[in-house]
Amino acid sequence: MTPAEASRRHRVQDDTSPSAVSRHSYRLAAIGGDGIGPEVLNEALRCLDDLGELFGFDVRTSKFDLGAEHYLRTGELITDEVIEELARHDAILIGAVGDPRVESGVLERGLILRIRTEFNQSVNVRPAQLFSGVDSIVKNVTPERCDLVIVRENTEGLYASGGIYSHEGTPWATALELSLNTKPAIVAAVEFAFQLARLRRQHVTLCHKTNILIEAGRLWSDTVNEIGERYPDVRHDYVHADACSVHLLERPEMFDVIVTDNLFGDLLSDLAAVIQGGIGLAPSANLNLNGTAPSMFEPIHGSAPDIAGTGGANPAGAIFAAAMCLSHLGEREAARTLEAATIHVLQGLPAMRGPQMGCTTGEIGKRVRDEVVMLAREGGVAEEGGAPGTFRSRTDVGSERG
Ligand code: IPM
Ligand code: MG
Repeated sequence: MTPAEASRRHRVQDDTSPSAVSRHSYRLAAIGGDGIGPEVLNEALRCLDDLGELFGFDVRTSKFDLGAEHYLRTGELITDEVIEELARHDAILIGAVGDPRVESGVLERGLILRIRTEFNQSVNVRPAQLFSGVDSIVKNVTPERCDLVIVRENTEGLYASGGIYSHEGTPWATALELSLNTKPAIVAAVEFAFQLARLRRQHVTLCHKTNILIEAGRLWSDTVNEIGERYPDVRHDYVHADACSVHLLERPEMFDVIVTDNLFGDLLSDLAAVIQGGIGLAPSANLNLNGTAPSMFEPIHGSAPDIAGTGGANPAGAIFAAAMCLSHLGEREAARTLEAATIHVLQGLPAMRGPQMGCTTGEIGKRVRDEVVMLAREGGVAEEGGAPGTFRSRTDVGSERG
């Protein structure tokens, strides 16, 4: 089942409106989380409400109080009951998780990773595209040169198995961290990457460290070669992860779709986000590809506790993530409109974060909503709108797979 079919299956028809016109209704679970998470998510949710009115669908949001505050108060991360409740939603939107008062790894593993694995969100799709009018801190990188998507395997690698820490506190203290790599998970990521590349510039790059991680590297390479046979129209090649970080900075145009393991994907997507204008602008989609559970959408940035409550957080990453969510649910025109509106607002900002933005998190959200109304009045945003690849790379990834 494609994600689009999966989301249609989840959808509830509401035929009770007086006009007898059926409206789609979506149940969204919203997890604000920690630090700037609730602020940026709030702006994204307000955009969704407005889009629903303009494009004729209902968004029913249930807020879930999860994260550091909840954990410190109750000692609970996420219970099985909450997992079951989340499972009854069409999609999950999450702000950010992480708090200096909680030991590193507790919230990340106990909350985000638990949801990703429990709901079999096997790929994490992270577009990195520089929009015209947005500056990259990397000299000479232009929009024509930076339009790529990182497809990150999302449930395995070094994220999966935990490890062993023995002889703690002795001079022989020893730690072992294991990397899990299974064929089905790699197939899911690679297959998705090829399908996505087909919609874009027909090029998949496997990124790994086959020169050091020989066994896992071989499984990844073999899988790419096998699946590549079935996509003669898509070119595929390979780069080492360390070289990839250099190429991203020097020649981002050499990439279209990068498929990679969980940890490499984590590192490279932060780098790619900075190249495309800043980590605050980057969205991600944790996709359940077979419709067995909801997918989850989040900005890739962290909780930035140092600027929480100051208005210095840019909500664009969260809003772009909401656009990916809309597209995944099948509301593609609304998704394109939200994305175009956000790009337009970013183009008018003197800086992408902090007080230098010249306006607050809430004001940026308001500007995006105003722009959405304008665009909707003008008839929405056509499928072909934007630069080549624009919508293919971002909002359409969750809704259409070749
Ligand atoms: C990300 C984050 C997460 C990750 C953390 C918060 C668990 O860095 O989504 O990129 O490492 O995957
Ligand atoms: Mg990360």
